[in-house]
Amino acid sequence: MSRKHDSIRPIKWENDQLVLLDQRVLPTEERYLEFNDVKDVAKAITDMVVRGAPAIGVTAAYGVVLAARKHNPEQNKNWRRDIEQDLKILAAARPTAINLRWAIDRMRKTMSTHVSSENPLTVLLDEAKLIHQQDVEANYKLSDLAAELIQENSEVITHCNAGALATGGYGTALGVIRTAYEQDKISLVYADETRPWLQGARLTAWELQKENIPVRLVAEGAAAMLMQQQKLDWVIVGSDRIAANGDVANKIGTYSLAVNAKQHGVKVMVAAPTSTIDMNSKSGDDIPIEFRDESELLTVSGQRIAPDGVSAWNPVFDVTPAALIDAIVTERGIVENPNLKKIKTLMS
Ligand code: MRU
Repeated sequence: MSRKHDSIRPIKWENDQLVLLDQRVLPTEERYLEFNDVKDVAKAITDMVVRGAPAIGVTAAYGVVLAARKHNPEQNKNWRRDIEQDLKILAAARPTAINLRWAIDRMRKTMSTHVSSENPLTVLLDEAKLIHQQDVEANYKLSDLAAELIQENSEVITHCNAGALATGGYGTALGVIRTAYEQDKISLVYADETRPWLQGARLTAWELQKENIPVRLVAEGAAAMLMQQQKLDWVIVGSDRIAANGDVANKIGTYSLAVNAKQHGVKVMVAAPTSTIDMNSKSGDDIPIEFRDESELLTVSGQRIAPDGVSAWNPVFDVTPAALIDAIVTERGIVENPNLKKIKTLMS
């Protein structure tokens, strides 16, 4: 760990296996699970043992290593063909986070270009470790850039968890907050509780408390009143997928936070690595939105809270139009008032 407030790593490769911090049981328990089978990795992504777009991407890269190992490249000359079924299952584990497909495509490229004198498993593991390391480095870089936009004594609000837990380490939105806090620019972080999975209450509050960064929880329904009653400087969030025109898909509730911010003159920052930008999605309309089981809304800790027979609508992401976003910050640079032309220039 090379920075202050940087003690959390949710994904590890240890003893030739993938190790994930189980985010379903935080903050009550810090439990690590071991994975040797790519199908179990895909299920862990679907079940949200690991979540957050960049973390899903890094996990999938290690999942490709496990898939390759299963198909025994040393003895099976058709391993590249045989692995495809597993890669399809992995890619389908969650639909919105583009980092998942991005990481698998990058591993595919490594599979197809490695020279036959090298051991494919070593080459693939090195590439997965590089994807992991580059994700952390991108977070350091974008956090340094973003901190320059933040004035001293700022109070900010974040939504969901875009922290170390959601990435290879350090975080995007929480990376910005870590760096700006270290520079004495942030005095308080409000964390939206983030219904229904409570990423804010369970994960962001845990992560910031662990790093001794002052955090206060709010129900997301309280965010508008918070903005009305006192000065908030920034909304800082991450993203699961940014379209070519700057529309941003992120955890459900981000859109209403951005609408509230516009009404109250609070600026909106989206912090994300360029691996989250999908130039094939022209606008937010092209981004597939994940819907999850209605039980996430109808129950709390396994206990039903709504009357029997009542159903629920549970989209877990929404799209914030580019017009509501003041800055998208990536490791390659800052895009203010994003639009197609500016995003194209960033990505070229
Ligand atoms: O459903 P989740 O918990 O995977 O949703 C995560 C988010 O919405 C994050 O804000 C996003 O992935 C960015 S993480 C750096």
